[in-house]
Amino acid sequence: QNLLREALPGAEVLIVSNREPYIHNRSDGGVVVQTPASGLVSALEPVIRACGGTWIAHGSGDADRETVDERDRIAVPPEAPAYSLRRIWISEEEQDGYYYGLANEGLWPLCHIAFVRPVFREADWRAYEKINERFAEAVAREAQTDDPIVLVQDYHFALAPRMIRERLPKATIIAFWHIPWPNAETFGICPWKERIIEGLLGCTILGFHTRFHCNNFFETVDRFVESRIDREHGTVTLGGHETFVRAYPISIDWPPKALAAQPSVEECRLQTRRSLGLASDVMLAVGIERFDYTKGILDRMKAVDLLLTLDPSLKGRFVFVQAAAPTRSRLPTYSRLQSEAQELAREINARHGDESYRPIRLVIRHHEPAEVFGLFRAADLCIVSSLHDGMNLVAKEFVASRDDEQGVLVLSSFTGASREMAEALIVNPYNIQEMAEAIGMALRIPANEQRERMRLMRQRVRERNVYRWAGQMLIDAARSRQQRRILDIA
Ligand code: F6P
Repeated sequence: QNLLREALPGAEVLIVSNREPYIHNRSDGGVVVQTPASGLVSALEPVIRACGGTWIAHGSGDADRETVDERDRIAVPPEAPAYSLRRIWISEEEQDGYYYGLANEGLWPLCHIAFVRPVFREADWRAYEKINERFAEAVAREAQTDDPIVLVQDYHFALAPRMIRERLPKATIIAFWHIPWPNAETFGICPWKERIIEGLLGCTILGFHTRFHCNNFFETVDRFVESRIDREHGTVTLGGHETFVRAYPISIDWPPKALAAQPSVEECRLQTRRSLGLASDVMLAVGIERFDYTKGILDRMKAVDLLLTLDPSLKGRFVFVQAAAPTRSRLPTYSRLQSEAQELAREINARHGDESYRPIRLVIRHHEPAEVFGLFRAADLCIVSSLHDGMNLVAKEFVASRDDEQGVLVLSSFTGASREMAEALIVNPYNIQEMAEAIGMALRIPANEQRERMRLMRQRVRERNVYRWAGQMLIDAARSRQQRRILDIA
C-alpha cells in the first residue's frame, strides 16, 4: 500500500472500466448493494481504496438510473467512503452492440482459445466506438488536472486510450488487458485489428498478465501496423508516441477483506455441510466462478463423473459443489452452457446417486464474497479448470482463504496463475482422465503435504499481492512522467 502512495505522490487517479465496483439494485421496496463477480473489481477495488480517486464505470443496477445523473459523484464504499464512483448510463441498444456484441461475442472468444467462433458485426463496432468515445469524454470532463493518471481497464476499452490522449495529451494512461492476447494469426481475424492496436497504442503503459501475452502483442503489432518495435526495452512507437508494453501479473488484496468476518475453518466446514444436508465427514470439492464457457465447468463435471466411475468407493463420501454466477445470459453461448451444465449434473447425479446422495450440486446464483470465502474454507479442494484464462483470481483467493494451510488446488495449466502456483496439481482440462486422477489424488494428499504446498503458494500470493501489481505499474508511470518533465524542460 505504501508503494502506491510513494510512487505517485499527489497525482490524480481515474479508473475507467465497464464493470462497476458496487451495483445498486431495487429489492422488496429497498436497495441492495451487490459486489459483482469480477476479477477486475476484486483486484482494483482495494487499490483505489488505498490511493483514492474516481472510478468511471457503466451503471448496471436498476436502483439509481432515473435519479443519479452522469455528473453525480457517489462516495464509496458505502460504509467507509474512500473514493468517488461515476456511472455512465448506457441504453439497452448501445449495450447490445458494445458489451454483448463487440466485447463479448467478438473480442472475448477471439482472445480466449475455447473454440467458440467470434462474431463481428459492423453495428456492434459502431456502438463500441461510440461508448469508448463517451468514456473518454467523461475522463476529460472529470479530470481536475491536465496530467492525471488514467487506468483504462480491459477489452471493453481498446479505443479509449487514444481518444483520451487526444483530449488530455499530457495524461499518463495505463491500459491493462485482463484477458489473454492471442497470436497474430488469430487476432488477424478481427476486421478492426488495426484500429484496436492503434487505440491501445495511445497509452503510456500497456499491461498484460504474462510475458507470453506481451510477445503475442508485439507479434500482432509487427504484422498489422507500421510502427517501431523495440523488444529489448519493451516499447512500441507509433506516430512519434512511445508505449511501454510489459507483463504485470494481477493479484489480490492480502489478507482479503472478506476473510476478516469468517468463522474458523472448522466452523465453515460444519456450517457448509449442514446447509448442504451432508454428514460432517463428507469430502467436498468446490468450483466458484461466473458461468462462462472459458472456465471449463462441463469438463470438470465430466472429470467428477469419471472419478466416481473409477473409484465407486467415493460414492456417498464425496460431493462437488459448483457455485456459478449467471453472466452474459442474453447470449446464446452462455444460456446454452447453463442448460447443458444442468442436464449434465442431472445425468451424473442419476448415474452415481440416489434419493439421499447427489454428488454434484450446481448452485446457479450470485454469491457475495463472504459466502465465496466460506465455501473455500469449507472445501477439501478447489477446482479451477479454465480452458484459457488471463490470470484467474479464484485460484489466488482460494489460497488466501486457507489460513489453516490445508486444502488442495487443482489448477488448469492454461491459466496465468499456473505460472506462479506450481504447488497446485496442474492439469490439462481437455484431458478428462488426467483431471479425474488429479481430483482423486487431491483427496488423498496427507495433511503435512497439503501444508507444505499451501504454505508456499500463500507466501507467493502474499508477496505478489495486488498492491505490488498496481505499485509496479505506477512506478513505471512515475518514471515515464519524470522523463517527460526532463524532455519538457529541455
Ligand atoms: O476477468 C476478465 C473479465 O473481463 C473482468 O475483467 C470482468 O469484470 C469479468 O471478466 C466479468 O465479466 P463481466 O464484467 O462481463 O461480468
